[in-house]
Formats: sequence, structure tokens, C-alpha cells
Amino acid sequence: MTEPRPRRYITTPIYYVNDRPHIGHCYTTLVADVAARAQRLMGREVFFLTGTDEHAEKVAKAAADHGMTPMQWATRNAERFREAFAFMGFSHDDFIRTTEARHIDRATAYIQRLMDSGDITLGDYEGWFDPSQEEYVPENVAKEHDFKSPVTGRPLERRTEQNYFFRLSHYQAWLEAEIASDRIRVLPEQRKNEVLGRIRQGLNDVPVSRRIKEGDADWGIRMPGDDAHRIYVWIEALCNYLTVVDTDDRRTFWPRGDASDPAPITHFMAKDILWFHAVIWPAMLRALGERPPATVYAHAYFIAEGRKMSKSLGNFIEIDTLRAYADRYSLDAVRWYLATQGPLGATDADFAYGRFVEVYNADLANGIGNATSRVANMIEKYFDGTLPRTCDGRFGFPDGRAMGVALAARAAAGKAPDDPTRTFDFAAEARDAIGRAARLHESCALDEALRLGIALVNRVDEFISYTAPFTLAKRLAEHEHGEKALATILYSCAEALRIASLLLYPAMPAKMAALWRDWNCEHLADPADPDSGFRAPLGELAAWGGAYGLKAGQSIRKGEALFMRADAAEPAPTHEAPGA
Ligand code: MSP
Repeated sequence: MTEPRPRRYITTPIYYVNDRPHIGHCYTTLVADVAARAQRLMGREVFFLTGTDEHAEKVAKAAADHGMTPMQWATRNAERFREAFAFMGFSHDDFIRTTEARHIDRATAYIQRLMDSGDITLGDYEGWFDPSQEEYVPENVAKEHDFKSPVTGRPLERRTEQNYFFRLSHYQAWLEAEIASDRIRVLPEQRKNEVLGRIRQGLNDVPVSRRIKEGDADWGIRMPGDDAHRIYVWIEALCNYLTVVDTDDRRTFWPRGDASDPAPITHFMAKDILWFHAVIWPAMLRALGERPPATVYAHAYFIAEGRKMSKSLGNFIEIDTLRAYADRYSLDAVRWYLATQGPLGATDADFAYGRFVEVYNADLANGIGNATSRVANMIEKYFDGTLPRTCDGRFGFPDGRAMGVALAARAAAGKAPDDPTRTFDFAAEARDAIGRAARLHESCALDEALRLGIALVNRVDEFISYTAPFTLAKRLAEHEHGEKALATILYSCAEALRIASLLLYPAMPAKMAALWRDWNCEHLADPADPDSGFRAPLGELAAWGGAYGLKAGQSIRKGEALFMRADAAEPAPTHEAPGA
């Protein structure tokens, strides 16, 4: 019997279906997709969930504005989310709509359990309600924002209602200890401090229901045993993370109690909804006797050409804009730009055409694209497309000869490098990069992890400039070991690029699979569907010249260039204005 692989459960927020998806929704889902692909590559069994949050009042309102029933409108927009995520190449294992029975039934059962345990009780509530966000705003926050929504700036409403409350206050000490000790890791660090600061100010019990009023659309889930109330949309929405895996075959992703195999859960989102995920949800789980998430990661916002995106400015970057970019530069280029330039940390990031072209040319066209085609070209030209030998990837060390031969050829051609004493140890550098990337992925610093792939590509470029294999190739006859040296150099370039491709894969799965086809690397994964399973965990796949490495006699085809250079003078890609 094989050992079960370690598991990871990765989620995105479930998105409101009052409107169509935009870049922000794609960004968080991309971050989760990169994390999921990286975890699979590292040999873990991953369950990656995304979906739509449908029972909000604003969904019913938008539906009415469009002369549709809430369900018709929700279905139409849920479909747009599905399409957008298919276009983005996301590898989610499930897509939950909160209007599905599996969610409704289990979410209702959780609320019932919380009522039974005394964690949810009936009480009176008066406070400032933000209709645009469907949430109550604490008194001090309402005051600070002049009784306007801190998110949209629209007026808050004073509301009094009889409600069911969840006794959040009861979990204050526990939450503070869990978060302070990183048993619930709130990332980035700055967000953890904000959350802890707010917890220490004291936690109020939170309303978990809405009284149904005359004229309300029949939309949302009823409180169990009380038809006069609906479960507050936020409370039922959070339950989705558990409802989807609360089945016999998926419970391993959310093991009960103190199982020794914890299957750490990571929730990704933006900073707007961190409080729900870092405080309210873990407390609900605690009350249910379920384990809390291991990591709650809240990134910042994407803004557009320097301005905050908003409905009133009408400047949301639309999915069609991303499609237009993908048509011109490839989908993986869009994924790369978003993943490496996005607002993963605590500061907002701009989506700007000029920057896109800059990054595209530097990292992709002149980076991995150029390096792979250059190396494949030389292998084709000098060795008929077949690597004659392997090597240990060490250059400039006393026991190796290849570098000396290359430098001698350069000297003979009158092109000696300024510094003839440099060393390159690709096997060690690659091993180091893989180890660092694995650690960075564990702390969700996936942009940094991805950039290690480009750093390795840049080292190969440096090495090619330094050893100038093209100069050596013209002078093979003059050097006793010329051919051997040339083969050794090119093997090292190719093997280093193969390892770099593994580091780049989570962001650019299609392009890296294309490279693996050209370079006959079917032994890494099924190139038609790399997600269906890598043949071994990353450490083994990436071992220099190892069981999954490039072999002597392996043929390397120079396929189509992975990325063509972009011309910054060309106007930005555009698309037709969208409909409703
Ligand atoms: N339905 C709730 C979430 C419930 S989760 C149990 C919700 N939906 S939402 O449609 O408003 O999505 C908010 C999320 O979309 C943010 O947390 C973030 O993940 C993503 N983004 C929306 N706009 C964004 C940007 N401008 N930039 C980056 N991400 C953004 O809240």
C-alpha cells in the first residue's frame, strides 16, 4: 500500500452574482490556482474550491432591476463566473453555488447545531447597516466614516431588528491566542496585527439572521424552526467551505477533531472580507467542534491605470479586457502578469498596459521564451537536436574542464571576458531555488516563489553570455575537448531551464506543458494534462540529472517560440463595450 499523500484544502471567496465577474475575482482565484498547482507539484493531494454566493439581497434587487427572478439572474451570472474561470485555466476541483441543495441542507444543519449548543440565541439589535455590503458596521467605524459605507461611501441606515445572535464574545480569548500564536496564521503579517488589534478592543455578538419583511423577495435560507427569519447571507456563505467537503469521500480535507493528519486549510481573499474569515468563521467552527483554518490570507486590491475600480467610475477591468490581452500575448502571459505584479502583499497594485508590456518582454519574451529557444536552437544546430551527454552542472571549478575550453575559444576569437574567474554551480543553485520556492509557497509568497524561476533563467542567460558556446562552436577543431565542452555547456543550460520550468509551471501551466512536449519531458507529467498528476514530488522531479532529468540521447525540439516580443508602441488591446 502506498502512503496517503499529505493533503491541502484551498479556497477562494464565493463571489456575489449581482453582477458579472471582473479582474478582482479572477485575481484571487488565480492566486488560489497558483497555490493549488504548486501544492500538487510538491506532491500533495489538493482540493481547490471556488464558487458563487447567491442569497444576498443585492442579487434579488439586481434581478428585479432586470425583470428576472433571483434564480434566473443568479444562474446567468454564475455561468459567467464559470466561463471566466474556465478561460483563465483555473484548476478548481469544485464550484459551489449556495443555491444548491447540498449547501442549503448542511448550512441549515450547522445553524441548528449552533442553536442547540446555545451559541446562537434570539435577541434585539440596533445598529448601522450598510445596505451596499449587507452588513452592520460597528458604531465607531460608522462615526469615523460620517455614517457612510466605509467601502462604497453610500449612506448607512439605522436599523433595529430582533435577531438571532452568535455569541462571538465567548470566543475572544481563544481567537486571540490562536491568531497570536499563528495556529491560525493570518497573512500578510500586517493584517494579523490589524485583526489582533481589533479583537483586543473587544468582540460583540454578531447577528446571524434577518427578519423577513413585507415585499421581500423569497430569497435566502430560513432560520431552522423560525420561518420569520432568514439566515444572514454572510453566515450561510461562510459555511460553504465546510458544506462542500462534509461528505464521506471528502471529509479527509476537513478532518474532525484532532486528527494527526491535519490537511491544512487555506482561505484566500482580499482585505475587505478578512474579518469574516479570520474571526467570525473560526469562532463558528470552534462552536461547531470543527478545526479552524490553518491560514487566512488577505491580499490588497487591484486598481486600474492608477485609479480605484468602482461601479461609478465604470473602470472595472473586464474579463473581456483580459481576453483581449490573452489573444495578443497568450493566457499564460496574463496569468504571469497578474500573479507576479498583483496586490499579493498589503499594498494595492496597478493594472497598467505599459507595465504589462515591460514585464512581458523582460520575464517572458526575452526571459524564459528567448532562453529556451536559444538553447534548443544550439542543440539542434550543433548536435542535430540530441543531447550527447549529461554533466554535473559545475563550471569554473578545478575539477571541470568545459569552462576553460570555452574561455580559451573566446580568447582565441579575441573576445576574452573581463573576468576569467567566474564560477557557476547550476546543480546547487537549482537545488537551492527549489528549496526556497517550497518554503515560499508554504508562506503563500507565491510571487517570490515564481520569480525564482525567472532568476534561474537569468542565470542561464548570464552563463551563455559568459561561456559563449556559439564562439566555441565555430572553433571546435582547435580544441581537443571542444565538442565535449560544448555538449556539457548546452546540457547544463537545458537542464537548468527544465528545472526553471517547474518553478514557473504554477503560473504558466500551458506554456510549460508546451515546452515539455518540445523537449520530450513526458516523464515529468502527462503533457496533455499535467494537473492529472506529476510523476513524483517536486524535489525528485527537479533533481539535477536525476531520474526525471534530461538524459544523454534525449532529443530536444525547437518548437514554436513560447512568447513573441511585444511592441510597446502598439496600442493596448481593446474589446467591445460589454452589455448589461
Ligand atoms: N460574497 C462575498 C464573499 C463571501 S465568502 C464566504 C463577497 N463577494 S464579492 O463578490 O464581493 O467578492 C469579494 C472578493 O473579490 C474580494 O475579497 C477579493 O477576493 C475579490 N476582489 C474584488 N475586487 C477586487 C479588487 N479590486 N482587487 C483584488 N481582489 C478583489 O465579498
